Amino acid sequence: CGIIGILGNHEAAPILVDALRRLEYRGYDSAGIATVNGGILDRRRAVGKLVNLADLLVHEPLAGKSGIGHTRWATHGAPSVKNAHPHMTGRVAVVHNGIVENFAELRAELAQNGIGFVTDTDTETIALLAQLHIDQGMAPVEAAKATIDKLHGAFALCFLFEGEEDLIVVARKGSPLAIGHGNGEMFVGSDAIALAPMTDQITYLEEGDWAVLTRTSLEIRDVNNALANREKRTIQIDTAQVEKGGHKHFMSKEIAEQPSVVGNALNHYVRGGAIQLPTELDFTKIERLTMVACGTAYLACLTAKYWFEQIARLPVEVDVASEFRYREPPMTRGTVALFVSQSGETADTLAALRYAKENADQIVSVVNVAESSISREADISLPILAGTEISVASTKGFTCQLTVLLIMALHAAHQRGHLTAEQLAERLDQLHTMPGLMNVALAGSSAVKAVSRKLASATDILFLGRGAMFPLALEGALKLKEISYIHAEGYASGELKHGPIALVDKKTPVIVFAPSDALFDKTISNMQEVMARGGKVLLITDSAGAQQAGEGVWETLILPEVDDALAPLLYAIPAQQIAYHTAIAKGTDVDQPRNLAKSVTVE
Ligand code: G6P
Repeated sequence: CGIIGILGNHEAAPILVDALRRLEYRGYDSAGIATVNGGILDRRRAVGKLVNLADLLVHEPLAGKSGIGHTRWATHGAPSVKNAHPHMTGRVAVVHNGIVENFAELRAELAQNGIGFVTDTDTETIALLAQLHIDQGMAPVEAAKATIDKLHGAFALCFLFEGEEDLIVVARKGSPLAIGHGNGEMFVGSDAIALAPMTDQITYLEEGDWAVLTRTSLEIRDVNNALANREKRTIQIDTAQVEKGGHKHFMSKEIAEQPSVVGNALNHYVRGGAIQLPTELDFTKIERLTMVACGTAYLACLTAKYWFEQIARLPVEVDVASEFRYREPPMTRGTVALFVSQSGETADTLAALRYAKENADQIVSVVNVAESSISREADISLPILAGTEISVASTKGFTCQLTVLLIMALHAAHQRGHLTAEQLAERLDQLHTMPGLMNVALAGSSAVKAVSRKLASATDILFLGRGAMFPLALEGALKLKEISYIHAEGYASGELKHGPIALVDKKTPVIVFAPSDALFDKTISNMQEVMARGGKVLLITDSAGAQQAGEGVWETLILPEVDDALAPLLYAIPAQQIAYHTAIAKGTDVDQPRNLAKSVTVE
């Protein structure tokens, strides 16, 4: 979900909708804007795509040069016009990201004051509280502050007031906000991308900050209500990154970008044949690595576990953030906690990081968005340099995460004496062939497209892999279900016979990721088990593997031969292409799949 606010010199409605469009990538199910004009607040809201809001505005325009807008991803209350933001009383309009945890309590307090509710949302409570404070005689800024102080939870907030055409109040607690400085104009947005065409002069609010904006002034106060001086920076947003550049979808553009962005990450961390990582990152002193993330980033961690354990002989524990944070795992001395996140704002991952801060020796983050909370709160933050990722389903984010994690694992292996300088150099040489190999894999897209058309009629699909191909099987299944809505499960090949094989029938395609490595024979046996039960195997392998697999395989996709450790990076490409082309064949919304958000800033 996204927030935007404008104190401008032009009609705000079209600019608000345009900015919301740039936040579309975060995922949403309804949208709305409010303006103040001639002192009067008014709003328009619509369920579904932004175009519905834009249509509504044609028939029921909204005048005014000051306004706020929102794309909503439902938490409290179903997606409906009634529940869409902005929430408004006569005197206050508010947009909000995140969750107000004590909203039931606050509702009770409002009810005691004889105030009724029209929506199911926690956000309405905020608007009503602010209104109550104003009715009790507080000035708008004071009322907003008194309201903010009452809220528990993680949120970003933006208030607009009746009779105040040069005033917006915002607050950041848990959910990021960027203030944009224009020429006699002031803006606020969930991220700098939303503000890109208006300004590149950005001030990021810090955790706990709240701020008062006018067209010509910005006053920020910190968590202790002391005036805070936050830096104004010039942010470089490559606008090409937020356009599709000839592709039909952001997802296909981002898949295609992988050779170049993986190359960027490589060139950043490997220079002059040597790995460049901060010296404070000393794996000789580490006894255990704890890796925590959500979604695709979690699967990147699971892949890296194989690398850290096999190559660097470092024990690794991997957990999903939502489990880790509440399990309160004991963390012994010598533990480094590593958090991986594309957005750097995932609420669960951030909360897990804060838990680990009290317990681990060192906090490292691997993120794409450099200005993000997870990046800033870590002791060491390593950017993955994937460029802006817009598609909800992560692709280049995943392979850049893998690239950085593999470089870290190789570094650890060398530091810990498990790779000689020569062996390390050899591994790095191999890694440098990855962009080229990825280009070859990308060139195979027509074969993937043909097979994906056949997959589109399936209701269930299994993905199998062994070793580091097992997390990739999980990622293949995740990607497919995210965007094609076909039920898919990933399993370790060897685990098939312990349960999932019961699902195999003539209608269930089984996709097997199997480079011809040391475990290939074992995987062939697992494939035979599937085929013996009438299952249709789609084998993704190299030419040696295809030959060895023999008869009876339903479909085969061939990739170039690749070193074992590098295989997950290369095989990620057909995994992503299968999801993409199957979704296209099914006609689903590839870039904005239903119910999903790009950056989940709620628990
Ligand atoms: C959301 C997205 C996933 C993503 C996950 C973690 O659920 O839909 O694609 O993998 O969050 O996001 P992060 O930004 O922390 O990598």
